[in-house]
Amino acid sequence: MEEQIKGYAYGQVGQSPISIAELDLLKKTVMFTEADEKNLQLAGQVLKDQTNEILDLWYGFVGGNEHLLQYFSKDGQPNTFYLNAVRARFGQWIMDICNKPYDQTWLNYQHEIALRHHSTKKNKTDNVDTAPIIHYRYMTAFIYPITATIKGFLTKKGHDPETVEAMYSSWFKAVTLTVILWTYPYINKNEF
Ligand code: HEM
Repeated sequence: MEEQIKGYAYGQVGQSPISIAELDLLKKTVMFTEADEKNLQLAGQVLKDQTNEILDLWYGFVGGNEHLLQYFSKDGQPNTFYLNAVRARFGQWIMDICNKPYDQTWLNYQHEIALRHHSTKKNKTDNVDTAPIIHYRYMTAFIYPITATIKGFLTKKGHDPETVEAMYSSWFKAVTLTVILWTYPYINKNEF
């Protein structure tokens, strides 16, 4: 399945500049433990058949905000091909953040996604000509909508409120951790 997603290069990218030891300390700092891994696996099952609805909601948010849509656009014209290509990889990411082990391969792909938001590699995967970088401020700002909007989807499969809360909290930690890794290219050398 995964191989059919255009531009999705999990396991086929360069090495992350962040070490596993540094990742472990970051995990510790966002209080991410084995319990979170289990909660995320459950979240993966809950979200699995809802990814289209989730993406509709997130794309609705981006599409409804000119200052966000411009990152998919050239001269004010959204690039539909680009929006769709990214959407497929975004759907895969929902499953990956829940199910993949956060090992060296995962770490490497986080760096690749970082480069794809940054001027280093933005537009290159899909060979498009849109805004050259996603500005740092929106990377971090996005933690909130990507987190807050998932809760409704986590409640859809009849889990008790405590379980939903546990999945939600683990999702929040995972998104925070991920976005930190994605901001590496934006930070001055030795300041990350
Ligand atoms: C790419 C998620 C912030 C616009 C992607 C991909 C994912 C993703 C999963 C595809 C990665 C891949 O190629 O495999 C997220 C998450 C964010 C975030 C979780 C923050 C929590 C933003 C923001 C924007 C944005 C703020 C601005 C509208 C884009 C664009 C691409 C992309 C344009 C394609 C980059 C390229 O040219 O390859 N994002 N994103 N993202 N995202 Fe984000």
